[in-house]
Amino acid sequence: MLTVWEAMKMRRSIRKFAPDDVPEDMVNQMLEAARLAPSASNRQPWRFLVVRDREIRKQLSHICLGQQFIEEAPVVIVCFGDFERYSDTARKKRRQESVDSGVTNTASGRFADPEFIAYVYSLPVPPREQLVTPVVANTYIAIEHLVLMAMALGLSTCWVGAFEDPAEINRLFGLVDTLLPVAVIPVGYAAGEIPPPRPRLPLEEILVKPQMHAAGKEK
Ligand SMILES: Cc1cc2nc3c(=O)[nH]c(=O)nc-3n(C[C@H](O)[C@H](O)[C@H](O)COP(=O)(O)O)c2cc1C
Repeated sequence: MLTVWEAMKMRRSIRKFAPDDVPEDMVNQMLEAARLAPSASNRQPWRFLVVRDREIRKQLSHICLGQQFIEEAPVVIVCFGDFERYSDTARKKRRQESVDSGVTNTASGRFADPEFIAYVYSLPVPPREQLVTPVVANTYIAIEHLVLMAMALGLSTCWVGAFEDPAEINRLFGLVDTLLPVAVIPVGYAAGEIPPPRPRLPLEEILVKPQMHAAGKEK
C-alpha cells in the first residue's frame, strides 16, 4: 500500500475507467478510512451508499450532468451529509458517548469547563440553512480520506460535485431529505495513460501575509 504522502502525490482525477471490478475488501477499506475521519464535535455527519448496478450508475451519470465516466466506473460511492447528526436527540446521545468513552476527560480550555459545556448544549439547534456548511465541510473530510485510501490501494477516483439537482439522487434511492448528497465518487482502475499532475498554485501564492503593519502605518 502507498504511504499517505505517495497517495497524495499520485492521486489524479481519473475520468476513464477499465471495466475490471473492484474487490469488496478494497471498498470496505475505503469506507473504513472515511469512518476514521475527524469531525467537529465528533458529529460524523457522513453517510455512504455503494452502487455497483450498471443501470443505477447510468442514472447517476445522467443526474450528474451526463458525466459518462460515472456509468463506466464499476463502483460508485454516493456520499451524503446527514442533518440528523445535528438534531437535539443526536447531540444528547453524543454527549453521553463522550462521557462514557472518557473523551470529555481529554477536553481542553473552555471545553473542559462543565458550565461552558452545559451552556453550549442548551443552545437551540440552528436552522437547516446554517447547517449546510458544517454538514458539507465535515463530510468532505471523510470523502478525501476515502479517495486517498483508494489511491493507496492502486484505485482511481474522481470527485463529482456537479449534479442537476441533489434531490434527484434522494428520489433515485428513495431517501429522506435529511440526507444531502454532497459528492459522487466513481471508483475503479484507470484506463489508458495516467494524466500528468494538474497545475497547482505555488506556495508563495497560498501563503497569506499579515497586513497589520501596513494597517498600522495608515493611521
Ligand atoms: C468538490 C469537488 C467537486 C468536483 N466535481 C467534479 C465534477 O463534477 N466533474 C469532474 O470531472 N471533476 C470534478 N472535480 C475534480 C476537479 O476538477 C479536480 O480535482 C481538479 O481539476 C484538480 O485535478 P486533480 O484532481 O487531477 O488534481 C471535483 C473536485 C472537487 C474537490
